[in-house]
Amino acid sequence: MVSSVYSMGLNGVEAFLVTAEVDISRGLPAFEIVGLPDASVKESKDRVRAALKNSEFKFPVSRIIVNLAPGNIKKYGPIYDLPILLAVLSASGQIDFDNNDSIFIGELSLSGELKHTNGILPMAIKAKELGLKKIYLPKANAKEAAIIDGIEIFPVNNVLELKNHINYEKRINIQPRTEIIFKNNNSLLDFSQIKGQYDAKRAVEIAAAGNHNILLIGPPGSGKSMLAKRMPTIMPSMNFEEIIETTKIYSILGMLSQENPLVLKRPFRSPHHTVSPAGLTGGGSIPKPGELSLAHNGILFLDELPEFSRDSLEVLRQPIEEGKITISRVKSSFTYPCSVLLIVAMNPCPCGYYGHPNKICTCSKRTINKYLSRVSGPLLDRIDLHIEVPSVEFESISSYEESEKSELILKRVILSRNLQNQRYKSKKICNSKADLLKFKEYFEISPNSKKILQKAFEKMGISARGYEKILRISRSIADLENSEKILEEHILEAIQYRSLDKKYWYH
Ligand SMILES: Nc1ncnc2c1ncn2[C@@H]1O[C@H](COP(=O)(O)OP(=O)(O)OP(=O)(O)O)[C@@H](O)[C@H]1O
Ligand SMILES: [Mg+2]
Repeated sequence: MVSSVYSMGLNGVEAFLVTAEVDISRGLPAFEIVGLPDASVKESKDRVRAALKNSEFKFPVSRIIVNLAPGNIKKYGPIYDLPILLAVLSASGQIDFDNNDSIFIGELSLSGELKHTNGILPMAIKAKELGLKKIYLPKANAKEAAIIDGIEIFPVNNVLELKNHINYEKRINIQPRTEIIFKNNNSLLDFSQIKGQYDAKRAVEIAAAGNHNILLIGPPGSGKSMLAKRMPTIMPSMNFEEIIETTKIYSILGMLSQENPLVLKRPFRSPHHTVSPAGLTGGGSIPKPGELSLAHNGILFLDELPEFSRDSLEVLRQPIEEGKITISRVKSSFTYPCSVLLIVAMNPCPCGYYGHPNKICTCSKRTINKYLSRVSGPLLDRIDLHIEVPSVEFESISSYEESEKSELILKRVILSRNLQNQRYKSKKICNSKADLLKFKEYFEISPNSKKILQKAFEKMGISARGYEKILRISRSIADLENSEKILEEHILEAIQYRSLDKKYWYH
């Protein structure tokens, strides 16, 4: 007899329906799994056999074939234990249940307990999309699945409990919907703690407004890391769609808490410079998301940029422009989103004082060039704003005057984001990514501004990408001032943010 039970598989951040079909026939006793299972799926056999026996069932002494359909997509992980067990029980006549509108997910222990499973959120989303009505899953995942409305979640502790539910002896209670409670930013960090550095703060505000990548360069102790770490305090909170997108990544990696299974704050990821290229972009034999995707919809901060390996920096180029990463494997390819605001910080040379007005740099020209060349031209070109963070002046650092609070800067950023949302009719597109052709009327500049830009283009050797970036930054500056048009002063300021490479890299 053949029985089938629905379950789910993961491909990147998307889930797909998997059917566990079981055929039990007479013949020499055997237990085979087909349908591109990986090693951990194959091990299901032993777990299912033991869990079944330890849950008051009999393991059929027959020829058992399990097929995980569709057969052309590789299946990873131990989550098929539960659907395989149920299909075996149904095919051997030990249970009788109506399961056409349900999916079953979960790894089993030998005693039949269901264990926490990764990737539940994307699976619940897909199940709802497919019109399924019920999900049976490990209790530890119930709160996570119940984020999704309109589908019944049944938290299961063990196989015995599920058996009693199916036989109507003792029903399992449906998990109540997980409420999303938006929290206020209660960070101890604040922009008011940064003294002086008005130009750098201005640049960081523009970056937050238009979601632009930014490079901070300057001597040791000038406040670069301080600025970057306070950036989340001037970013608007995530909307529901963004929260779900980001939570999906953390769900796949099993990084959600069972009690509060939502990523509500914009991520701020600051990987150490020893991170491998795969650690940054994602990888592994079963490809997993990396730091870039963990920062999806948030900030990726690379401090001490030249210390990162050249390979790590070069693999960043494409994903930061495209907002997604595709990792290819022999029989499959995985795509993970990584729409991030990239902040990078660095010293101008190994001793840190190259270009300093009153400290002597002890590095040779060759050492400086070698140090700076670790950050390649193409990577530099992809960073929208370049800003110098000089040493803080004594007057600023010794002053008791409090600088502007993050709250006030955030207000301006939100106003400017609202303008962008209305203009691009999307909550996801900011000036840094807007289609320049589609929205060309908003990026139009006066003939005089054009002349200024032409001069800069020719004199400073700005690339075509650099030209585009200047327009985008000018738009963000104009938005911060609620100016409908991009004015000359906006263009002039934007050009300044593209001129540092000349001072340090190409002098
Ligand atoms: N503008 C500033 N206002 C107030 N304190 C500052 C400022 N700049 C630096 N500091 C103080 O100096 C410390 C070091 O600053 P920070 O770590 O941001 O420097 P940095 O520019 O990242 O230096 P490095 O190049 O060595 O990494 C801070 O913890 C803070 O106490
Ligand atoms: Mg630092």
